[in-house]
Amino acid sequence: MTPVRPHTTVVLAMSADGKIADQRRSPARFGSAADRAHLEQQIAQADGVLFGAGTLRAYGTALPVSSPALLQQRQQQGQPPQPVQIVCSATAQLDPTYRFFSQSVPRWLLTTPTGAQLWANTAAFEHIMSVPLTATEPSTGLDMQDALTQFHAAGLRRLVVAGGGELVASLLAIDAVDELWLTVCPLLLGGQTAPTLIGGSGYLSDAAPRLELLSVAAIAHEVFLHYRLHRLED
Ligand SMILES: NC(=O)c1ccc[n+]([C@@H]2O[C@H](COP(=O)([O-])OP(=O)(O)OC[C@H]3O[C@@H](n4cnc5c(N)ncnc54)[C@H](OP(=O)(O)O)[C@@H]3O)[C@@H](O)[C@H]2O)c1
Repeated sequence: MTPVRPHTTVVLAMSADGKIADQRRSPARFGSAADRAHLEQQIAQADGVLFGAGTLRAYGTALPVSSPALLQQRQQQGQPPQPVQIVCSATAQLDPTYRFFSQSVPRWLLTTPTGAQLWANTAAFEHIMSVPLTATEPSTGLDMQDALTQFHAAGLRRLVVAGGGELVASLLAIDAVDELWLTVCPLLLGGQTAPTLIGGSGYLSDAAPRLELLSVAAIAHEVFLHYRLHRLED
């Protein structure tokens, strides 16, 4: 039986050699204004935006919906002005001075029961969800199946996954990515340690997740690729 979970869309920008950041894991600011608008458009369609703690540590902020047209679109669709911004962190070790904590967005934390205790008596998060670590030895992180079920139960139907590579890998591992938007940006970053779209241990080509191209658009020097993930049973 297919587990009940939100529809998930991963949205990422990468260099032409497939890196989502440089080897210092600096914030990825190499996308154009068109790419930023594209990301905001995707976020505006979502009930929630999920991102890994590494992404928050790199940027210190989340991308809110700020375009008046997109805010109006959300209002017309009966959605709250902002989707919930959900940080995924097993350790819950996050710097409370990040600008994220003063942004006008609803903040949720996804962590372990131990991590949840660290933020329990603070106003930093509107909602803290705790799930166990996976039972595998060694654990591969939080039980994301459980997390997605909880998101759905909390009313989240459309989730944008804004990176980074570790989080995307953990969702792909449980076949929980439905769509992928990739912006290929005109630069080369290189470096063996620079993160790519998918962290973790990777796939052998026979077992690699397969994609179906839904659309492609070139705007100036960037290429916007929209894929659907083939389900394991496809
Ligand atoms: N190009 C783009 O569009 C784009 C978008 C986003 C990010 N980035 C770049 O990506 C880099 C950050 O990526 P990253 O590889 O560090 O990945 P990440 O997924 O953002 O962060 C990894 C951390 O998130 C938590 N996490 C993620 N998945 C988890 C899981 N399944 N279970 C438990 N915890 C989980 C863990 O936090 P704890 O250690 O706290 O437990 C883990 O250490 C940055 O350099 C950023 O600039 C690029």
